Amino acid sequence: MHEGQAKQREGFSSGMAVFFATLGSAVGLGNIWKFPYLVGENGGGAFLLVYFLCILFVGIPIMVSEFYIGRTTHKNAVGALKELRPGTSWKYIGLMGVCSSYLIMFFYSCVAGWVYYYLFKALKGDFVGITMATAKAQFANVVVGPLSPILWQVIVVGVVAAILAAGVKQGIERITKTLMPLLFLLIIICDIRALTLPGAAEGMQFLFHVDFSQLSAAAILTALGLAFFKLSLGMGTMMTYSSYFTDDNHMFNTAAKVAVSDTLVSLLAGIAIFPTVFSFGMEPGAGPGLLFMTIPLVFSQMPFGDILLVAFFFLTSIAATTAMLSLVEVPIAYMSEERGVSRKKAAIINALIIIIIGVLATLSVDKASLLGQYTILGRGFFDWFDYLSSNILLPAGGFFIALFAGYILKKQDLKYELSNHGTLKIDGLFNVFYFILKYLTPVLLLIVFLNSVGIIK
Ligand code: PFF
Repeated sequence: MHEGQAKQREGFSSGMAVFFATLGSAVGLGNIWKFPYLVGENGGGAFLLVYFLCILFVGIPIMVSEFYIGRTTHKNAVGALKELRPGTSWKYIGLMGVCSSYLIMFFYSCVAGWVYYYLFKALKGDFVGITMATAKAQFANVVVGPLSPILWQVIVVGVVAAILAAGVKQGIERITKTLMPLLFLLIIICDIRALTLPGAAEGMQFLFHVDFSQLSAAAILTALGLAFFKLSLGMGTMMTYSSYFTDDNHMFNTAAKVAVSDTLVSLLAGIAIFPTVFSFGMEPGAGPGLLFMTIPLVFSQMPFGDILLVAFFFLTSIAATTAMLSLVEVPIAYMSEERGVSRKKAAIINALIIIIIGVLATLSVDKASLLGQYTILGRGFFDWFDYLSSNILLPAGGFFIALFAGYILKKQDLKYELSNHGTLKIDGLFNVFYFILKYLTPVLLLIVFLNSVGIIK
């Protein structure tokens, strides 16, 4: 029997391990890189409020549904849907998830490469005496490359493939459990410094002042897409991870704790970044470079800033790496369980696919990049991979998962599994969840989607 077969599947060893591994998938570049720059581009507080609502009414119910699907079947996303409704088309939702995971990895590996590169630069002391102008110039240099960003992207993908080839337990558990709390602590240190910079209040005002006149239909879709991206939803990652869950896991609790902790990390990252942006007179809507331009500046204002900056980029690269582990686990579990490919071979095949296509993203980030002039409908490869996955495929995947859990599965089956075969008292909670999942989540998803494509106003 080869290692990919269901009987020999490994799993997480305890409830804590489940929580940290799931959090390790959620917390990543989404919190530290994507969240702040999208909040910045979309006008601040009002966007943030919509984002919170998306997490509450769409994110958490879908996360619980994915947990159910993964843990009852102990299978990969495609296999799980096949087992629950054999002979139907539902398995294609799993396959769509495999596609989404590739699209995300193509650009995620590029940004993770920048983070590794920034760690290397921080170690070399490249940020000593940094000013706003040099911070911008350094970022532009890193992005345009062309060789170094590709090299770092290849390193990232190699690291991820190596960890995965070593197996679920040893690979994922050990790293996430120890280092997540440290990252949290370091961001708080960053916050304290950022909040005491001159002009910090303006940054906080930007982040928390709700002004709906700043909010467009496109921004609402972006907030929704960000909620999916952040919580790793709509593409089978949480189904795949929950297939390794222990049977006594309280899945409502896990979902709530992961959503709250993840949102907290994003907020703390925002609190580190926006006061700095305003204090140094930068543009909040500066785009994907926002993190890379501001963080070296905050640390330059602190005692032991050089060392702390190294620690920051080290921990951020760990967060990016653990999130990538969960992304690539979707196609690897699929290939090994549905297609009979060994995990090691699947890890290598996926690494090659990500590198070959991911390079296109890396070479198209900026107008000055090698492929920067090649655009389709105004977007380059990087932007297309991001837009298609976050704004289209993940919400679409989430919509179908909500329909599947709310209308196709039997209510009592859901309740039986979510209550750990009747051992947990979850009656009230379950009823609220089921109502939201059935009537609110799919309707909200549909409205946002139709609104953003201009069908309803
Ligand atoms: N949630 C991760 C982040 O915010 O960085 C990104 C991600 C990981 C998205 C895994 C999707 C996924 F399946």
